[in-house]
Amino acid sequence: MAKLRIGIIGAGCRGIFSVGALFSTDFKERAEVVALADVNRTRAEAGREFLRIDADIHDDPLALVSRKDVDAVVVTSLDCLHEQHCLAAFKHGKHVFVDKPLAITGEGCLRILAARRKAGTMLYMGFNLRHDVVLARLKEMAGKGKFGDILSVHAIEHYDGGRTYMSRWNRLKKYSGGLFIHKGSHDFDIINWLMAPARPVRVSCFANVSSFKAERLPFTPRKGIRPGPTCTRCSYRDVCPDKASSEDMARGWPAAMKDSYLKMWNGTAAKADGYQKDLCMYLSDKDTHDQGIALVEYDNGATAAHAEYFATSLNNRRFMIEGSLGHVEADLHESTIEFRPRWSSERASYKLTRPEGDHGGADTVMCGEFLDCVRNGRTPRATGADGAWSVAIGQACELARAEQRVVKISEVLDIKSLLLKSGV
Ligand SMILES: NC(=O)c1ccc[n+]([C@@H]2O[C@H](COP(=O)([O-])OP(=O)(O)OC[C@H]3O[C@@H](n4cnc5c(N)ncnc54)[C@H](O)[C@@H]3O)[C@@H](O)[C@H]2O)c1
Repeated sequence: MAKLRIGIIGAGCRGIFSVGALFSTDFKERAEVVALADVNRTRAEAGREFLRIDADIHDDPLALVSRKDVDAVVVTSLDCLHEQHCLAAFKHGKHVFVDKPLAITGEGCLRILAARRKAGTMLYMGFNLRHDVVLARLKEMAGKGKFGDILSVHAIEHYDGGRTYMSRWNRLKKYSGGLFIHKGSHDFDIINWLMAPARPVRVSCFANVSSFKAERLPFTPRKGIRPGPTCTRCSYRDVCPDKASSEDMARGWPAAMKDSYLKMWNGTAAKADGYQKDLCMYLSDKDTHDQGIALVEYDNGATAAHAEYFATSLNNRRFMIEGSLGHVEADLHESTIEFRPRWSSERASYKLTRPEGDHGGADTVMCGEFLDCVRNGRTPRATGADGAWSVAIGQACELARAEQRVVKISEVLDIKSLLLKSGV
């Protein structure tokens, strides 16, 4: 059987070390990465070397999407570029795998869905959390009615790695849409999945920068010696517990990966585009939050809360469901689900085995599903419409936060149009 020929737009961390690595190793019998596109050629070359592939490199994503020998395009560029890269790929009749978020606005998502419809190809939404062993089991149990009707969901994410958002492009809404889109779209998607067929209706939200600001520097600067501007150049790098230069990030990694990572982000690559990954997270300019809480109401009266914390030493997501038949807690770090039936003191506990691989093995399952879906015309576990709903919640949160009011989903997403344009 012929391999699926893949072109990747955005040869950064996700494009190379996660998705690109999976398609070129685990799935090399079924797929081949034939082209990489990135505005930074040095970065793409280092990525290609890491993947040990023979792919062509394009500075212009349009050159990649117009290649006849590319069947499918993986979009792992910055969030704000997903729309233009998906539209270009569909224009040339390619299948598309787009990492979350689908776009950074509800309108942008609808334009992508319209383009997919016209192309008649596959839009695969890269929501790896749907393939997490714990959440997949939780959904299966919910689908079987084990918890009864779902009345409320609480999701909490603690993400230590989120501090580095404050050092990178993610910290600015013009690139990421805001962290309720960039990061929260994952969690809103899981909540929507659990709540289905109910749909989100309105949102309120509170979020702030509480930790990553000058007055909370985790050391006392000496008089006249200013910290930053990057960890690499900072006079306090030996005392700062949050230092995040490329060397710090790659410490302890396998040699080949570390070597490629440094080539991708330091030296010639950094000089070419000035992309800095290690701005001082306390002093950087930012318009996103480091902690926040969103509330969502669904059209059946169910409610949801999602909280995200990026100043923490924890790395965990927990989901709690209040069902008409009882209370459930899923803990991704512990890989556990605990169900406490109503009107009973019993509890049922499940400890799941987590496979190896990025994102608790979920990336591998997701990339395998993408290949199956393209090959067999199967409907993906997460569709473009799912991507649009979660972006709409995130966008509504950002608006609710900015304007200090309750925002209706219909203000940011033309729902009728979505129902018309949705599909595989
Ligand atoms: N599913 C997940 O859990 C997950 C995790 C991390 C990142 N992501 C997503 O993956 C995407 C990439 O994130 P990342 O962390 O790898 O970022 P990154 O900064 O490491 O990589 C982004 C790459 O895009 C390139 N780029 C910038 N402008 C471009 C353009 N006009 N055309 C082509 N390439 C361009 C950059 O040079 C860089 O190599 C984002 O959308 C992010 O939200 C998803």
